[in-house]
Amino acid sequence: MPSPLPEHVRIVEVGPRDGLQNEQRPVATAIKTELIARLARAGLTAIEATAFVSPRRVPQMSDHDAVLRGIERWPGVSYPVLVPNIRGFEAAVMAGAEEVAVFTAASESFSQQNIGCSIAESLDRFRPVLSAAKRHGIRVRGYVSCALGCPYEGAVLPSAVAKVASALHELGCGEISLGDTIGVGTPPATKTMLAEVAKHVPINALAGHYHDTWGRALLNVYASLEVGVTVFDSSVAGLGGCPYAPGASGNVATEDLVALCDALGIETGVDLRLVCEAGAFICEALCREPVSKIARAMASAPHHVGGRPHG
Ligand code: HMG
Ligand code: MG
Repeated sequence: MPSPLPEHVRIVEVGPRDGLQNEQRPVATAIKTELIARLARAGLTAIEATAFVSPRRVPQMSDHDAVLRGIERWPGVSYPVLVPNIRGFEAAVMAGAEEVAVFTAASESFSQQNIGCSIAESLDRFRPVLSAAKRHGIRVRGYVSCALGCPYEGAVLPSAVAKVASALHELGCGEISLGDTIGVGTPPATKTMLAEVAKHVPINALAGHYHDTWGRALLNVYASLEVGVTVFDSSVAGLGGCPYAPGASGNVATEDLVALCDALGIETGVDLRLVCEAGAFICEALCREPVSKIARAMASAPHHVGGRPHG
């Protein structure tokens, strides 16, 4: 029996990081900070702002320092940043980070391609980050990429995902985000993977991070809601992809996630209209159309929200 759907979902907006990291066209720092301000105005309370990674490996995030220092901080909003190692952590803290995320994978090949080390080595890199974060009172989230498939190895065993998720949790990561990096997951596979991970990490410490390459991200969100997951990562306008996951497209669009929750009576605290406007803003800067179906529907029929007439 599926559990009843939750009353509230927490959305972690990853557009300014995951959404922009793979863009070929340079995006000005001022555009990024304006996007972050618009997302906060729309009601998003966790906005992943940037990544303190190698500028050679991910040039689009090379202005991490300026972005983090340039954010107009809203009360009640957190601005986590990715850190791959203690060097990134220290730079992030210097620039004002109050929350960070470490990231590894359930696939050895992806780990080598993405962060240049094995999964075990990545965990060794995170140990000093977690210790330092504890001293600074900084929250740490952990990402597990390839939770539903790997671009290099294909299928990934749920037990492999559970092993890494539980290692991150034991290290002190308060929340573990499970990434369908290449968007190959299906609802049954998502439920099987979550059931395995939940044997080791409480379900309320898990988040779904689903890319939409095969158009199933929203279905996988629904499947996760049915088994008690209440935190989801999404990207405004459906932007995103990982430079080390060839062919992968963006995350589930924030607009689509918010509209789904609205239609199901699940509270998110996010204003759909304002998040669509934030999406239109960044799409104009990138000279592209939002991939979000809801954003397009709202643009053509603004009086119908989530399929329901809006007053
Ligand atoms: P490394 O092990 O030192 O080796 O870096 P490397 O050869 O990959 O990189 C070496 C260069 O990085 C050297 O500089 C280091 O000094 C520098 P160079 O000699 O080339 O001038 N370096 C750093 N620079 C800035 N900040 C640092 C830092 N550390 C070393 N903190 C490292 C390892 C992880 C840093 C590197 O491989 C890297 O930056 N990789 C990029 C990883 C990345 O950002 N991937 C995308 C984000 S993850 C993702 O999208 C998945 C997710 O969304 C979930 C999902 O969808 O599955 C989270
Ligand atoms: Mg991602």
